[in-house]
Amino acid sequence: MATATTPKRPAAPKVPDQKNFINGQFVPSASGKTFAAINPATGKEICQVAASDAADIDQAVKAARRALDNPDWKRMDAPNRGLLMNRLADLVEQNAEELAVLESLNSGKLIGDAQGDVQGVVNTLRYYAGWADKIEGRTVPVRGNFLSYTLRQPVGVVGQIIPWNFPLLMLAWKWGPALACGNTIVMKPAEQTPITAMKMAALVQEAGFPDGVINLVNGLGETAGAALVAHPDVNKIAFTGHYETAKLIQKSAADTLKRCTFELGGKSPNVIFADCDLEAAVEGAFHAIYFHGGQCCTAGSRLFVEDKIRGEFVERLAAKAKDRKLGDPLDDATQQGPQVSQEQLDKILGYIKLGEQEGAKLVAGGARFGDQGYYVTPTIFDNVKDDMAIARDEIFGPVVSVLAFNDLDEVVARANSTYYGLAAAIWTQNLDKAHAYAREVKAGTVWVNCYHVVDTTTPFGGFKMSGQGRENGEAVLDHYTELKTVTIKLNK
Ligand code: NAI
Ligand code: MG
Repeated sequence: MATATTPKRPAAPKVPDQKNFINGQFVPSASGKTFAAINPATGKEICQVAASDAADIDQAVKAARRALDNPDWKRMDAPNRGLLMNRLADLVEQNAEELAVLESLNSGKLIGDAQGDVQGVVNTLRYYAGWADKIEGRTVPVRGNFLSYTLRQPVGVVGQIIPWNFPLLMLAWKWGPALACGNTIVMKPAEQTPITAMKMAALVQEAGFPDGVINLVNGLGETAGAALVAHPDVNKIAFTGHYETAKLIQKSAADTLKRCTFELGGKSPNVIFADCDLEAAVEGAFHAIYFHGGQCCTAGSRLFVEDKIRGEFVERLAAKAKDRKLGDPLDDATQQGPQVSQEQLDKILGYIKLGEQEGAKLVAGGARFGDQGYYVTPTIFDNVKDDMAIARDEIFGPVVSVLAFNDLDEVVARANSTYYGLAAAIWTQNLDKAHAYAREVKAGTVWVNCYHVVDTTTPFGGFKMSGQGRENGEAVLDHYTELKTVTIKLNK
């Protein structure tokens, strides 16, 4: 049985109500409306948050447009833009513990994971600060007596909509490249997790960014989010979340032909061959699904195990699941915190019921844990068939589906028979198998004998309905620049 931990850290800080950050100022929503931010470990309110709509979005977009044309930003030397971003990274580092505690409190993320995410923010900002003065054009050997060269210029005002599973990290993944390329930003944080974004706004102010370069508007997706997507003066939308939301966004963005990039989750195949290092593969498969309670776009939720080791593998996985310590995410001893919300708790429990109804074999977990907060015990289904709902849909919780297989071609075909294509992994000592899988599997990221290794330096994104475009690395810079060709007639 999963066990509960008892809190050892000092009580979490009192959090003030959260406003919006528009044109360098903290302002309430135009309507004065608010909604509650909830602590997922208790289900209790942390503070009230500005509930914004089209009027607030319009103000923020206007501020971002003015900032785009403000010489303090537009004409800022590229190396100085990098310095400014580095100043923000330094401030994040100086405020790391406060940011991590707030992130854990608001999202239910383990404090250790939150500390890791804050470091990820620092790394991301510094990496893209380094790009600021390396966004270069080319000279082109055009036909005729002309000089042709290209300029890479900002796309303009970019709208960024992020989810609740990695609130700080998703913010940094989107701010980093946008700022490096000289854009201005209107971001809508997830309604579940607005608190650390607003702390970042205070650091933006302290770092000395010109007013309006970064704006944050809190609110629900259907109101604030939809208004940002529909706004005619927003040039691009970058979104992370569910593909159903992305479909709505793409339809709405069609009216103004906005550029869109999407990162949309997955049902990632994690393939275990009998010739793997068994100890490492059990650890890896466990981490693949249960990291952050499965609330991870790359979660290894389809666990393909070669049939001849499946019995032992599932047994070892189940023993670890039953041993896991659930409890207060602010306690260093806790191994699994709550799911983010009542909505997610209900969704996950619904899928567990469906798995049992469809005839999968429940070998661990399968229930809510405790009676306050949104906890789910680490759950394992064995004997899962490819067409069961638990093997097809993204559950976004601590629920893994074990699927038996016998050979490489078979498992590649089954791994690819999904509308998702975000990540994939293979555990084997055989290089031929590893390379063949890496080449054939339809996923934006492939891990061999490891899992969840994501770095700001490497491109990240999805095939098929897992997304459009890439984040991280150099690849994302194309999405935040317009390419301009300049041709000059020469007379000699
Ligand atoms: P969601 O896609 O509805 O929300 C993500 C963001 O989009 C939030 O900021 C939300 O306010 C905004 N949004 C929602 N509707 C919008 C609209 N019509 N226009 C503009 N913005 C809108 O995801 P949600 O409801 O939080 O979670 C549902 C499922 O989505 C999860 O169970 C999981 O399967 C998936 N998901 C995937 C994530 C990933 O990392 N790829 C992250 C979060 C959720
Ligand atoms: Mg939603």
